[in-house]
Order: sequence, then C-alpha cells, then structure tokens
Amino acid sequence: MSQFPQLRMRRKRRADWSRNLVRETALTAHDLVLTTVITDSVDREGPVGSLPGVSRLGLDALVAQAKEAAALGIPALALFPHIDPARKNATASEALNPDGLVPEAIRRLKRDVPEIGVIVDVALDPFTDHGHDGLMRGEVIDNDSTLDMLSQGAVILAEAGADMVAPSDMMDGRVGVIRDALDDAGLTETMILSYAAKFASAFYGPYRDAIGTASALKGDKRTYQMDPGNTDEALHEVAMDIEEGADMVMVKPGLPYLDICHRIKAEFEVPTLAFQVSGEYAMIQLASQNGWGDSERLLLETLTAFKRAGCDAVLSYGAIRAARLLAG
Ligand code: PBG
Repeated sequence: MSQFPQLRMRRKRRADWSRNLVRETALTAHDLVLTTVITDSVDREGPVGSLPGVSRLGLDALVAQAKEAAALGIPALALFPHIDPARKNATASEALNPDGLVPEAIRRLKRDVPEIGVIVDVALDPFTDHGHDGLMRGEVIDNDSTLDMLSQGAVILAEAGADMVAPSDMMDGRVGVIRDALDDAGLTETMILSYAAKFASAFYGPYRDAIGTASALKGDKRTYQMDPGNTDEALHEVAMDIEEGADMVMVKPGLPYLDICHRIKAEFEVPTLAFQVSGEYAMIQLASQNGWGDSERLLLETLTAFKRAGCDAVLSYGAIRAARLLAG
C-alpha cells in the first residue's frame, strides 16, 4: 500500500461525483419501515407532545399516510395503538377483540392500500392496565400464561390481514408458540418479525407517552427485556428465535446498539432490522428545534449508519421525511 505523500485520501473526497462513485453504503426508501401511532378516540388524534412531527392518527389519516409512504417506495408500516384506558384491564382482554382498533386498522389498510406491507406488534402493554407486556401473577410477569394470549392475539391480527406479526414482549418461547398457532389456523404465509434483542431501555419514554402507557406502568421491564450490557446474550436470543421460526429479527433500540446489529448480521446472515425508537427520534427533533443540529441531516446520517452496520431495514418515525429527502 502506498503512503503519504504519494497517497492522498482526500483526492476522492474533492468532488460530488467521486464521493458518489466510492460511497459504500446507500440508504433508499426501500430500507425504511414507517412507524405509526393510531388511536380509537377522536379526542386523542393529533400531535404527540414528546415526539415532535408525529401525530396519533385516526383511521382515515392512517390510510392517507400509508398511501404517501407507499408512493415514496416505503415497503411497510408498523402499527402502534393508543387504546382507550376504559378498555384496559389486568387480563388485556382487548388484545383478543377481533373488532378492536388494530384489526380494524389492518382491514382498512389491506382494503385501501394493498401495496404496503402491514406489520403489527404482538405484546400486551397497550391493553394492560399495568402497562406491562405480559400478564402479572402477583408481582411477577407470568411467562407461560402470557404465551397463550400472545398466540391467540397473533392469530386474530393475522386473520385481519396482517402480513407480519412482531412479538415485542420478550417472553421466552413466544416465537415458537406463535408460529404453531398461525400454522394450526392455516395462516402459513404470515411472517414473524421477532424483536429478538430488545433491551430494557430508557429510550422508550416518548412511545409510552404516545400510546398512553407511561403513567400506568408500574416498575420497569428488566425481568424480561435484556440488560444493556449484554451482547453474547443477544446472539443467543436470535439463535433461539430463528430456530423457533422467526422470518426476520430485530434489534431495539437502534443507534446505541449498532454493535449488536453488526454481530447478528455477521453471525446469522438473516434479515436483520433495527428500530430507531421514540427516544432516538425525539433527540434528533429536539436538537434541531434548539438549533443544535439539522434534523434532516441527523435523520439521514443515523439511518445510513444502520445500513452500514449491516441492517437490512430500519423502523423509524421519520421514515416519510427521510424518503421525501431521498426523493429530492
Ligand atoms: C412494547 C413496545 C415498546 C416499543 C414498541 N413496543 C416499548 C416498551 O417495551 O416499553 C417502543 C417503541 C419506541 O420507543 O419507539 N411492547
């Protein structure tokens, strides 16, 4: 390899054309999944205070946003529901309502915007009055009774037309029981995107505010979500989820965990997604509102970083904005 002064790395950086020529990683709209927040109450539609630029949507607005996303080349969207507190209880019974907000939203999307993929979370937290992702037995989150709810819930969502169900609860064994339940119901084409390496993170704050679980949540999620210090354990989780039938795996949060994304992709060579979660997105928006950063550049730079780390796609609240920027 030649050395300075014969070699000058800056030669290639001088012009747009040569920078474009040697760029190793390029972000496209096809790499993005739009995260959306929906509500069943007209009173709650509108901007989410802690997520500048994000609104809770009624179903008409959801359809309009999905159409825009599809037109920009965004392949899929993920739904997150704000459920009327009056419908929440300790058994999360609303999660099994086939006429609930989420199944209704899926049916509307499949009817009106069939070209966009619909991904839905499978977890109980939007439906429990205690804000946890599982059923509680005394003070503990009960793994095995939760599995039963999750598999029944996944079948209801798939029957409504969801293309991909995304267990985000971190109970042990959920991917396997969901796959079995889907197959038993003849839903063999429904995919599973496993939130395989999901960490007990402080970056979920704005989301819990958006879907109205922040004030309800008692305690924290450290008995089921992963410890932020662990990486071998993340690979172990992914290996198990692939074995149980996950079609794709996800890392969450995103940017603070790019090393995890990189290791997973290198080790397993399976479709690997990351979630640029609410707290990450809020930081970008707040920096820019304060004049401390350009939100457009921060968004594109962070999304590109996911691709560079090996992710195939990124879930982001900024997917539409990013896709518009990419389209020029
Ligand atoms: C819970 C769930 C969470 C998110 C998606 N699904 C938060 C949590 O575990 O408390 C976070 C999304 C975000 O912060 O944008 N099943």
